Amino acid sequence: MLSPTANPQFEVRTATEEDLDALVAFNGRVFRPSAGVWTRSLLTGGRPGTSIRHFLVLEDRATAQIVASLCMLLQEWNFGGVSIPVSQMELVGTDPNFRGRGFMRMQAMRLAQMERAERCLLSCVQGVPGLYQKFGYEYAIPLKGGTRISLEKVAGCGSSRIPQPGRVLSFRRAVAADYPALVPFYTEATRSMFVSSSRTAALWAYQDGQPDDSEHAIETYVLEEGAQIVGYFRLRQSSKLNAMVLREAQAQTWDGWWAALKAAFEAAAASGFNSLLLQLPRTNPLHQTAQYAGGDEIPPFAWQVKVLDWVEFLNRIAPALEARMAASLFANWTGSIVVRLRDATTLHLGFDQGKLKVRADGQAGASDGVDATVGMFTQLAFGYRSSEDLLRWHPDFRVARSIHFALDTLFPKLPSYVYETY
Ligand SMILES: CC(C)(COP(=O)(O)OP(=O)(O)OC[C@H]1O[C@@H](n2cnc3c(N)ncnc32)[C@H](O)[C@@H]1OP(=O)(O)O)[C@@H](O)C(=O)NCCC(=O)NCCS
Repeated sequence: MLSPTANPQFEVRTATEEDLDALVAFNGRVFRPSAGVWTRSLLTGGRPGTSIRHFLVLEDRATAQIVASLCMLLQEWNFGGVSIPVSQMELVGTDPNFRGRGFMRMQAMRLAQMERAERCLLSCVQGVPGLYQKFGYEYAIPLKGGTRISLEKVAGCGSSRIPQPGRVLSFRRAVAADYPALVPFYTEATRSMFVSSSRTAALWAYQDGQPDDSEHAIETYVLEEGAQIVGYFRLRQSSKLNAMVLREAQAQTWDGWWAALKAAFEAAAASGFNSLLLQLPRTNPLHQTAQYAGGDEIPPFAWQVKVLDWVEFLNRIAPALEARMAASLFANWTGSIVVRLRDATTLHLGFDQGKLKVRADGQAGASDGVDATVGMFTQLAFGYRSSEDLLRWHPDFRVARSIHFALDTLFPKLPSYVYETY
């Protein structure tokens, strides 16, 4: 494998404005043409927090060609009401003629420095199974999945609905002026999630502004009763999945949910698809509706995440953790949980009358606590797996009886869903 100093012919550097066209061409070639279009959107379409300096390129100095690249997409995630800065590693590609030479790893090392400089507490990635665990990432948040339902079965979704005479709902494409009013609906749609991505009006406008041939082109529709906004939904066509994808939906009444579903159905039929893919969290009412109407569940994949600083991260989300304890038998608890991470530092989670303070604990000691790998603890802390799941699947995950009840109260299994921010 090459290291940055081993061969000066290949240099990792931050991209500049002059690289724009070459980057678009590179990603269009290594992934798909739509990824090239998306690259241009990311760099010129006003995505909040993205600029050319968030792209790395690895250049062959002999030919001045880009042979590998990746980028970081900065975003904010909401953890039970606490905002956490996150970096997403994206568009990770190496020219097929240059693979297996350590070029991705060289860039990943540089990315880690950029994440520290941007004060990110978390790094996340989608993508190739098996690849990112080599870089310290762990599956921890449901991603996509949903229900596929044929158009004949969609009609059955409305069967238990009680129509409300006199209420007339309509829908239309969202325009720029709608986004500020839609943000509270998104907040409502993600309220029951422990982890979700934050959405601003500016991010919404960027996403909807992508050209139709972009990898992540999406359309937002506003649900209205008279002139009042009562919900929204988002659609994207996927020839790859051979379906119209209903990506997000939020409404206030059965009629509203049904209007969103019917509109998605009509859009699917008009585009020649014979099924709808409801890419929604399991908690969304339309997910359940489609299940009862005979839709086929598609298990979600998962976001892979890496906590960049455990002490800082846990202290930041302490208000959400303290609230869980306060609402339980452990209200005003004084006590501690020691988490011995086999491949990282030991953490000391100390409660003093309900207030949490986390610190790195130099001495792993023999005190009662939790023994886990970073991956296992990540899944527990994100509410993705319960301690019971982990105990069942990993013989090397251990929890002392004396703190087990407190641990489960602090880290229960919880629903999460992170919508992409691009
Ligand atoms: C995935 C890809 C970026 C790897 O680039 P690369 O420059 O060949 O990677 P490296 O040589 O730096 O390898 C880095 C590590 O990843 C591993 N790796 C590479 N491709 C892998 C794969 N498909 N699955 C599992 N591990 C993989 C290597 O074994 C290596 O491990 P090591 O450092 O522990 O030995 C490249 O194959 C590619 O562009 N693929 C097509 C686009 C893609 O799928 N991108 C990722 C999804 S966004």
